[in-house]
Amino acid sequence: MSAERRRPLIAGNWKMNLLKGDAAELCRVLKRGLAAPPATSARVVVFPSFPLIPVVARELVDSDVAVGGQDLHPGDKGAHTGDVSGSQLTDAGCTWALCGHSERRRDHHEGDDLVAAKVAAAARHHLSPMICLGETRDERQAGQTFAVLERQLRSALTVRLDAFALAYEPVWAIGTGDTATPEMAQEAHAFLRRLLGELLGEGAATGVPILYGGSATPDNAPGLIVQPDLDGFLVGGASLDPQKFLGIIRCSG
Ligand code: PGA
Repeated sequence: MSAERRRPLIAGNWKMNLLKGDAAELCRVLKRGLAAPPATSARVVVFPSFPLIPVVARELVDSDVAVGGQDLHPGDKGAHTGDVSGSQLTDAGCTWALCGHSERRRDHHEGDDLVAAKVAAAARHHLSPMICLGETRDERQAGQTFAVLERQLRSALTVRLDAFALAYEPVWAIGTGDTATPEMAQEAHAFLRRLLGELLGEGAATGVPILYGGSATPDNAPGLIVQPDLDGFLVGGASLDPQKFLGIIRCSG
């Protein structure tokens, strides 16, 4: 399958931002923007924080915008104070779950095994995992980028997944205004696609969307999206501004 035939996927990671009223308004502006011409072929998903999910799911119920959880517990239920299960996310209207975001790896010491267990839990509860991978600045400078990506990807895929996406997010580019160049991003995405081919077979690998994340904006997105193995964006800061988020969606096709 060529890159042209992979439908773009644009995700907004709202992180720990917004209150109910702002979130509902953001959804309404987004829906209006997506309904206005020119039509986009991109799939869109937003990841609000847990308390916002019911409001967002209600606002987006008659739209094509999907909703996802920013995290989930690897278990199905039980004594895990402060955690949220995959079935609770599905029940609240989610169809996606972020797994292994670098801020969770950093703030909550999530290691590769836990990320793998979360990916498996997402799949059990009919959520498509969006698996986040990426090297730190030190790892890049030490020439370890591909070794890190390989370790993170191999360890994350322990069960059969019907639908999932990867998000290549160089840690040094997240929230910093430093974006990977299109060449750097393509090199990492092509590496991930080759490795997916080895792990899942060529046919399956060509269908997996690989998103770029890390200070994506409407200004840098056009240069990135034309890269053959780059299928969309996981957008943090710019997804909180509907005009910027719509700008990224529109330039993606
Ligand atoms: P950013 O965040 O776009 O603000 O850099 C991306 C992410 O963390 O998913």
